[in-house]
Amino acid sequence: MSVPLVKVETRGRVGLLTLDRPKALNALSNEIIDELAAALRAFDADDNIGAIVLTGSEKAFAAGADIGAMKDWTFQDVYSQDYLGHNWESLKRIRKPIIAAVAGYALGGGCELAMSCDFIIAAENARFGQPEIKLGVIPGYGGTQRLPRAVGKAKAMDLVLTARMMDAAEAERAGLVSRVVPLDRVLDEALEAAAVIASMSLSSVMMAKECINRAYEASLDEGMLFERRNFHALFATEDQKEGMSAFIEKRKPDFKHR
Ligand code: HXC
Repeated sequence: MSVPLVKVETRGRVGLLTLDRPKALNALSNEIIDELAAALRAFDADDNIGAIVLTGSEKAFAAGADIGAMKDWTFQDVYSQDYLGHNWESLKRIRKPIIAAVAGYALGGGCELAMSCDFIIAAENARFGQPEIKLGVIPGYGGTQRLPRAVGKAKAMDLVLTARMMDAAEAERAGLVSRVVPLDRVLDEALEAAAVIASMSLSSVMMAKECINRAYEASLDEGMLFERRNFHALFATEDQKEGMSAFIEKRKPDFKHR
């Protein structure tokens, strides 16, 4: 049996996935993405999991797609397997929140993988970049799409066209990451945030994620309507009764995720 490339653990209601291909700085081969997608789908289907953390090593979240594997591929090879269109795309269908805990390099597909998570908590040593242009290609999993939405056109053009890396402080200023913490805190910070999320009512968490993501796809009017209808729908849950009663009764809510 081959060695797992993704470590799968649980911490209470939090699922923890660790990219574990340290010798290649977690270069993202098809095999590692297949494993990651399968693990994410399993957590998504597990009623005992309320949020997921995805992390790498202290040196690299992931240094990009696997250049060694791609080097000799032809157009026909990548087109016929619809490279990046299959399992990579399945990541965005995960309905529970995924926090990326990023330390070290998040480059190319690694930066794109972090951006496909719901938010990024970065260690002070994190470096983000889209260096594909140096390899004679361009980003292939959202670097030209999610990056400008996150940091604006000017910085996205700068990063994608020059291949320069930005550090964690610049990434936070630009809005790519939600928090920057010392390296020895990054995983705990992400696990704690995930535990907070996992303590909320799962339906409201999933609907909130869906609504925020809709902001990228819909007009303001359509997005507002989508949000309002989801808000209405939550009044059908037991957790809404519990959450509001607990506030009035000055106690902590005991959500049953129903
Ligand atoms: C395959 C990789 C790799 C990658 C690093 N390695 N990145 N292997 N694919 N993307 C391997 C190295 O070959 C080396 O293997 C080992 O990991 C350690 O890397 P070093 O380069 O020796 O480390 P260091 O000098 O510390 O430099 C770190 C680095 C550099 C700056 C991150 O490795 C680097 O520039 N990597 C490539 C980054 C990149 O171009 N990413 C974009 C890929 S294209 P050995 O066997 O020699 O020890 C891409 C397309 C996106 O992502 C499409 C959508 C997914």
